[in-house]
Amino acid sequence: MLIEVRGLKKYFPVRRSWSDILKRRKQKFVKAVNDLNFTIEENEVFCLAGESGCGKSTTGRLLVRLLEPTEGQVLFEGKNIYDVPKKEFKEYRRKMQIIFQDPYESLNPRMTIYDLVEEPLRIHGVRSEEERFDMVYQALKDVGLEPPEDFMIRYPHQLSGGQRQRVAIARALILNPKFVVADEPVSMLDVSIRAGILKLMLDLKEKYGLTYLFITHDLSVAYHMCDRLAIMYLGKIVELGPADSVILDPKHPYTKALVEAVPKGQVDYRRKLKEVPIKGDVPSPIDLPSGCIFHPRCVEAFEPCDKEEPELVEVEEGRFVACHLYR
Ligand SMILES: Nc1ncnc2c1ncn2[C@@H]1O[C@H](COP(=O)(O)OP(=O)(O)OP(=O)(O)O)[C@@H](O)[C@H]1O
Ligand SMILES: [Mg+2]
Repeated sequence: MLIEVRGLKKYFPVRRSWSDILKRRKQKFVKAVNDLNFTIEENEVFCLAGESGCGKSTTGRLLVRLLEPTEGQVLFEGKNIYDVPKKEFKEYRRKMQIIFQDPYESLNPRMTIYDLVEEPLRIHGVRSEEERFDMVYQALKDVGLEPPEDFMIRYPHQLSGGQRQRVAIARALILNPKFVVADEPVSMLDVSIRAGILKLMLDLKEKYGLTYLFITHDLSVAYHMCDRLAIMYLGKIVELGPADSVILDPKHPYTKALVEAVPKGQVDYRRKLKEVPIKGDVPSPIDLPSGCIFHPRCVEAFEPCDKEEPELVEVEEGRFVACHLYR
């Protein structure tokens, strides 16, 4: 086991208006991540999927400590990363990297590709210029930007979207991390180049023994990329298991609805899952429903669902579901 997440919560305070303050209304919170418990094995691709706003990115940021949690722990190689003093966290930062959705935003447009990929080496004190050059050269080769000398002198705007995302991957991998969070790394890219980037990520995982937390709202991407898949809804995991069995045999009514949105025999990269054929909209993460958080939208809801919150329990080997249907 590389990572263990225990009781992880992140509540963001909602901004209060003057009238709220004057009337002494209680501070409210967006419960973006609400009590997550899971593990990620070494060399695994662990996927988080779910509709927009369910807390995927917040979870990804918490796992590399770009955010501090409201509660809970993330053990990396057995040590709680939030206990590490901020000053000593640099060593962990080196081992835990993140790739964002939008390579336009994450790359400084005024830096050359060479400087962008070299920057993490400078920050982490790789002193010799020659060593840095060799590492940048190899990193660009690794991500398929060849010949590297042609790309080094260019600027981000001179590259295609796919090439820019390759630069972002080179930056993330140059320090030889163990764990990489990839937050929707292909969702901004043209459909035709997505498969190439995903394949590159899997090849690099094999080559360098990486472990990924892969975030997507696209179940067909999850199906191709992931070993295990966790389905999130309003900050919680409602189903967790091997990606293929969760997608081919979903158990939670929410997962079923997500899977039904993918046309049969069309497990490809095209189908997005932002819209789901279930009742109503996602409730506000500020005032969560009572009992099971999914019950107001659930077509299978019955007597206990609006009263008791179901726990995530193992219903078959390796298959976890939080639903009263499986008590
Ligand atoms: N810094 C913040 N301050 C306040 N609320 C936040 C902040 N970051 C996220 N949220 C809220 O937390 C919830 C979860 O957001 P998050 O970005 O984690 O969702 P997501 O699953 O990544 O969505 P998407 O698929 O759109 O990227 C949302 O309601 C969002 O508005
Ligand atoms: Mg997100």
